[in-house]
Amino acid sequence: MIILAEIDLPDLAETQAVAARLAPLLRPGDILAFDGTLGAGKTEFCRAMIHALGFADDVPSPTFNLVQVYEPSPEDMTTPAIWHMDLYRLESPEEAFELGIEEAFDTAVSLIEWPAKLGPYLPEGFLTCRLEIMADQGARKLTLIGDEQWRNRLGSILS
Ligand SMILES: Nc1ncnc2c1ncn2[C@@H]1O[C@H](COP(=O)(O)OP(=O)(O)OP(=O)(O)O)[C@@H](O)[C@H]1O
Ligand SMILES: [Mg+2]
Repeated sequence: MIILAEIDLPDLAETQAVAARLAPLLRPGDILAFDGTLGAGKTEFCRAMIHALGFADDVPSPTFNLVQVYEPSPEDMTTPAIWHMDLYRLESPEEAFELGIEEAFDTAVSLIEWPAKLGPYLPEGFLTCRLEIMADQGARKLTLIGDEQWRNRLGSILS
């Protein structure tokens, strides 16, 4: 795993802009693991990606449901389904199978807050998106960590 980018996000608008640049690269089978403390901006980042992919509805935080699924309309052959998960309240890694994570990993883009809750069941090849709260009010730092394949795919947004 290599650090692919460190991106300053001075305000929420910049977080949304970076998320919107990343969103079009996503394809079924991708797993994005969002690390960061409470309030770091994981949900805001996911929400902005989901909106950028054209899902116009509300994007509530999956704090209590653990999973929110966004399905493209049947005639839309390009937009992937998105599973947005917040596993903070998961009591054991095994419980994740009841949510249908295997289907998500196979057929959708998985955006996972609190991915460590999956323990050994987080498949290889994920992109870590680490959000940190900076001393400056409202500022965040995004660190992207992944493999060579992610480096190649992210090329256009990293430069
Ligand atoms: N640069 C920024 N990027 C993202 N969010 C920001 C930024 N500046 C301020 N914020 C605020 O920080 C909060 C981030 O909340 P969010 O729900 O996204 O956090 P989270 O990481 O998902 O937390 P949790 O672990 O509780 O799910 C929001 O209230 C948002 O308005
Ligand atoms: Mg959240």
